[in-house]
Amino acid sequence: MSHELRTPLTVIRGEAEVTLRGKEKPISEYRTTLERIVQLSNQLNKLVGDILFLARSESGTLQINLKPTSLSVILDEVCQETNILARSRSMSATREEASHDAIVQGDPERLKQLFMILTDNAIKYGRPGGRIVMRLENTNEAARVTITDDGLGIPEADLPHVFKRAYRVWRGRPSAVGGAGLGLPIAKWIAEAHHGTISIASALDRGTTVTVECPLSGSQTSRADR
Ligand SMILES: Nc1ncnc2c1ncn2[C@@H]1O[C@H](COP(=O)(O)OP(=O)(O)OP(=O)(O)O)[C@@H](O)[C@H]1O
Ligand SMILES: [Mg+2]
Repeated sequence: MSHELRTPLTVIRGEAEVTLRGKEKPISEYRTTLERIVQLSNQLNKLVGDILFLARSESGTLQINLKPTSLSVILDEVCQETNILARSRSMSATREEASHDAIVQGDPERLKQLFMILTDNAIKYGRPGGRIVMRLENTNEAARVTITDDGLGIPEADLPHVFKRAYRVWRGRPSAVGGAGLGLPIAKWIAEAHHGTISIASALDRGTTVTVECPLSGSQTSRADR
């Protein structure tokens, strides 16, 4: 992890030093450098946030406030935000069965974080112009959310390891796709903090489906899938 932290810091300092060195440069050059610094700072900010999250999850100091929460409302927000982020890769996200709802004992902020981690992956490892489908259904006692993409997929040998911290798949990935391998471990922690489960199914070059299941809030369990 120290490599992931140090690299952007080194690049930020390097870019600034090179730009400041020697004689004055055209404004456009300063602008380019500053834009790059902003981009790297954002990357670093996300990484530090993720590291702190996992550290807090281990020390038991992470607050999670469960209350009756509509998954449909959360998925609507996630879908909207995903569509904005997906534009840069000409991808789109849609919700299937948008009229269906499920109430769980959940922390809305954390649940949103969980699903945004999954759609972030679907965008990053999706194919340009591809589709992301979000689906919500109820089983007997649980709400089930699936997020499916039609992107790169994950080799079978890597699949059992992707929820491990800092595990990344290299084969067939463009080297420019950054990441620290913390998204899925965080997603797993959040799912389990909701007494739920998370699993992943994938076919190389075909796509990936991540399934999150969460117990339905008391009054809903006996009328699943109506
Ligand atoms: N939808 C997906 N399609 C293809 N590969 C995926 C998908 N989701 C995850 N992976 C693979 O699993 C690995 C672990 O995912 P994870 O989200 O934990 O880390 P990351 O995306 O590499 O970095 P981070 O989420 O910390 O920015 C990724 O490196 C990627 O190769
Ligand atoms: Mg990720």
